[in-house]
Amino acid sequence: MPLYSAPGYIPHKVWWKDLAHRFLGTPNLIKRLQFNDIMSALDIKESEVVLDFGCGIGYITYDMAKKSKNVIGLDIIDVNKNIIPPKLKGRLRFIQSRGESVPLEDNSVDVILLSEILLQIPEPMDFLNEVARILKPSGRIVLVNPLERAGILEEYNNNGRWVRFAKKFCGERCPASYEDYTKKLQFSFDSHFFELPGIDFYEKLLESKGFIVNNVIFSPSKKAQQFFEKIQFLAFCFNLPTFGPVYFYTLYPFLKIIDSLSPLPRGTGCIICASRKEV
Ligand SMILES: C[S@@+](CC[C@H](N)C(=O)[O-])C[C@H]1O[C@@H](n2cnc3c(N)ncnc32)[C@H](O)[C@@H]1O
Repeated sequence: MPLYSAPGYIPHKVWWKDLAHRFLGTPNLIKRLQFNDIMSALDIKESEVVLDFGCGIGYITYDMAKKSKNVIGLDIIDVNKNIIPPKLKGRLRFIQSRGESVPLEDNSVDVILLSEILLQIPEPMDFLNEVARILKPSGRIVLVNPLERAGILEEYNNNGRWVRFAKKFCGERCPASYEDYTKKLQFSFDSHFFELPGIDFYEKLLESKGFIVNNVIFSPSKKAQQFFEKIQFLAFCFNLPTFGPVYFYTLYPFLKIIDSLSPLPRGTGCIICASRKEV
């Protein structure tokens, strides 16, 4: 196994951070729980042209480049181009561009990943127009998105112990309802959607652009996700950070075990695999 193999490892200029990331991989809790499911949904072949649309810092893009020799990460932010490991050089490039106008040819990409991106822009259709333009007729897309926070909804509906605890100790910081909580949390994530849409929202969106959903993987597992959601809920009520590496370093080993033991069908997040209707 090459040394840069930990899932989502991105080389870092600071040596100790580089070492930690090299062995621990990317410290994004939910994405790490979903990592194997995302990679298997992508099912990348060596010769395929692959695009990570809205790649962020590019931690999934690096892993894509271990599978394909033609990988592109695209984001509105500039991703540092100087730290591509020698073994991935020539296989991976980053483009700084708006997703509404992608500098790639029509019908030029085999696989497109849109991970946690559609809810980050005001009009998801602007991105899907570009996806439909640049995707080859035989190409496929993979969308990764959150679904409803079912554990927290249930807590509010049943006035469960986590909500009672938060109301008692956090007073007004505890949102009045599930909708109120989701709205505030989404807002803190810079999302343009203050409600979390269901799977049918994504299906309709894709269908309207001529795509058909072939498979949906629900990931991570319900128990793992809902446990994290409750911790995140309390963190929100106590005005603590609601995401970040601290969640990965403290919860990942425990949730990974729960996740691996969870029976099918699993999960609350969704990984949607789609292709063009006419193929
Ligand atoms: C929540 S992050 C997701 C990053 C990564 N795909 C992941 O799964 O962790 C959303 C990304 O969308 C990018 N983004 C937002 N608006 C964009 C736009 N108009 N064009 C391109 N990228 C955009 C942001 O810079 C950010 O990196």
